[in-house]
Amino acid sequence: MKLFDVYPLYNVCPVRAKDVYVYDEAGTEYLDLYGGHAVISVGHSHPHYINRLKDQLHKIAFYSNAVENPLQQKLADEIGEQSCLHEYQLFLCSSGAEANENALKLASFHTGKKRVVAFKNAFHGRTSAAVAATDNLNINAPLNQQQQVTFIPFNNEEMLKNELKKGDVCAVIFEPIQGVGGLDQPEDDFVIKMEQLCHQYETALIADEVQSGFSRSGTFFAFQKNNIKPHIITMAKGMGNGFPIGGILVHPDVRPKYGMLGTTFGGNHMACTASLAVLEILKKNKLQKHAREMEAYFRSKAEKIKGAKIKGRGLMLGLEFDFEVGPLRKRLIYEKQIFTGGSSNKNVLRILPPLTVQKVHFDQLFDAVKDIL
Ligand SMILES: Cc1ncc(COP(=O)(O)O)c(C=O)c1O
Repeated sequence: MKLFDVYPLYNVCPVRAKDVYVYDEAGTEYLDLYGGHAVISVGHSHPHYINRLKDQLHKIAFYSNAVENPLQQKLADEIGEQSCLHEYQLFLCSSGAEANENALKLASFHTGKKRVVAFKNAFHGRTSAAVAATDNLNINAPLNQQQQVTFIPFNNEEMLKNELKKGDVCAVIFEPIQGVGGLDQPEDDFVIKMEQLCHQYETALIADEVQSGFSRSGTFFAFQKNNIKPHIITMAKGMGNGFPIGGILVHPDVRPKYGMLGTTFGGNHMACTASLAVLEILKKNKLQKHAREMEAYFRSKAEKIKGAKIKGRGLMLGLEFDFEVGPLRKRLIYEKQIFTGGSSNKNVLRILPPLTVQKVHFDQLFDAVKDIL
């Protein structure tokens, strides 16, 4: 049987990994500054993560959401403690798209409305409502185009107000730091205004923290820089360090009802254990503070690269050049053994390393970039 061919592949096959490195069959070492697309938060194959998953596997790996699973409450408590969002409610699922799908659906249940406002260059996933709120027609099938979504640019208060005034918008969904779009961020004043307008016009504000959450931005969630309280926060990627888990945090104003949301796999024993292990390592190794320190170091090095603009925050960073970075990324992999990311802005080289990255790894990157350029 052939694989359904939807991914253009690099000719590299990692077979094992450790911290910020992955290794192919021949033992070639690659520096992973891509983190498997911002998924690897606490480093590949962290010993505590492995032990926690192994222990859990010997106890119970899965049972359905029809019975009690105290690991879900433990996870809710720990996310509450580390994010300081104790009053929110946790619903667990298995991916970023599913988190956004549930968030949009919940916003519609809560408000009784059905149009969505999203932003230019947004990426929210590939399922029905999530992909419709993604600003890329190429990945929207005719089926998805039935959803009612209006795209507006960041930082245009007037346009946002005009849309919300119409009274039919269930949700405004935004990425505090755009990932796939190329690391643009809304201005602080706009974020605060967005929260206020959503309250005024009874619209749910959804912060998509699928990529920026779980300390990658240098705060637990990237929106916390602005001290707002979204109705719904979505998360996935770094939450499980590679184990598939996603979730939404729901403001207490949004009330649950039996059957409103549901999933077979979401919140299973292994997924909760993976995420608890991630949170334990984040806390013990103070990785949020480390992310801020590494960002400062990255910036000090990047400033010396002529013609490169620094984008992003924490360890969700980018270098924007005045040329397309595709060939540079290829040479970084094949000549320098360094993984980096691209974006829909073809001039942006994205850096999404495990949060355990050290100065020496950035030195390696900048030496390599200088050499190639
Ligand atoms: C901001 C954001 N939201 C949602 C998603 C979709 O997540 P998943 O691929 O886990 O469905 C992504 C994936 O890149 C993302 O970056």
